[in-house]
Amino acid sequence: MANWTDCLNFGISIAKQASEVVLSAFQQHKEVKLKSSPADLVTETDQRVEKILISAIRNRYPQHRFIGEESVAAGERLELTDSPTWIIDPIDGTVNFVHRFPFVAISIAFTFNKQIQFGIVYSCVEDKLFYAQRGGGAFLNGEPLYVSGQQDISRCVVVTEIGAERDDVALSTTTSNICRLLKLPVHGVRALGTAAVDMCQVATGGADAYYHIGMHCWDIAASAIIVQEAGGVVMDTDGSEFDMMSRRVIAASSATVADRIAQVIQAFPCCRDDED
Ligand code: IPD
Repeated sequence: MANWTDCLNFGISIAKQASEVVLSAFQQHKEVKLKSSPADLVTETDQRVEKILISAIRNRYPQHRFIGEESVAAGERLELTDSPTWIIDPIDGTVNFVHRFPFVAISIAFTFNKQIQFGIVYSCVEDKLFYAQRGGGAFLNGEPLYVSGQQDISRCVVVTEIGAERDDVALSTTTSNICRLLKLPVHGVRALGTAAVDMCQVATGGADAYYHIGMHCWDIAASAIIVQEAGGVVMDTDGSEFDMMSRRVIAASSATVADRIAQVIQAFPCCRDDED
């Protein structure tokens, strides 16, 4: 079985280089364009960072394939094959980036035979590098990460996102999910504005669970393996096996907490990422 450590190390080095581009643009005025909704934004920096990452990887690994948020937005077909594939979100938290709200991340996952082999989430402003390789544990700036292990939902801090969907069904489902959790009760509900960094909070033990409906594979693929390697559980919101294309995810400190959240929340319909 291939060892992807060289690819992981290369991914970490280019994420750090690309973060300089993000940080130098962070305080500047940005030209913003809308994508699928008034809350789904893109800037020239998102597109530039994605190009920098893909061209560096392509130079070094010419046979590898890519799924990149901005390439897909520009019309490229999203197809996950058995080939080595890099799944890239150049700036996760673009709304934060536009507003200078200080949680923005470069998220890079790598799959082989459709299975995530490693994930890198670099929270640029915080200078926090989260990463994990299959079977090798999860790390934050070189220190091992462990989930809280919390089993009791009523003692949980739960992270989620309002998301970019703004239609009536999505909004009412999203808000009633939050109400149902608050009434359980949980200790608190939080949202940082970047799915990748939100989910990494579960890996640190700082949050006990995370769920989201409507995000895309590039938002959560890297952090999914980081949570799993920190000892956590990742599943679909309907309780079935995690499927990064389904646009639904629960990540939790224990199977008990993940199952409880799956019982409480509802999903609104959204097209799979790998459906045309
Ligand atoms: C978004 C962020 C946000 C989530 C949205 C995503 P982007 O990613 O992860 O937290 O709620 O669903 O689209 O567009 O900033 O890369």
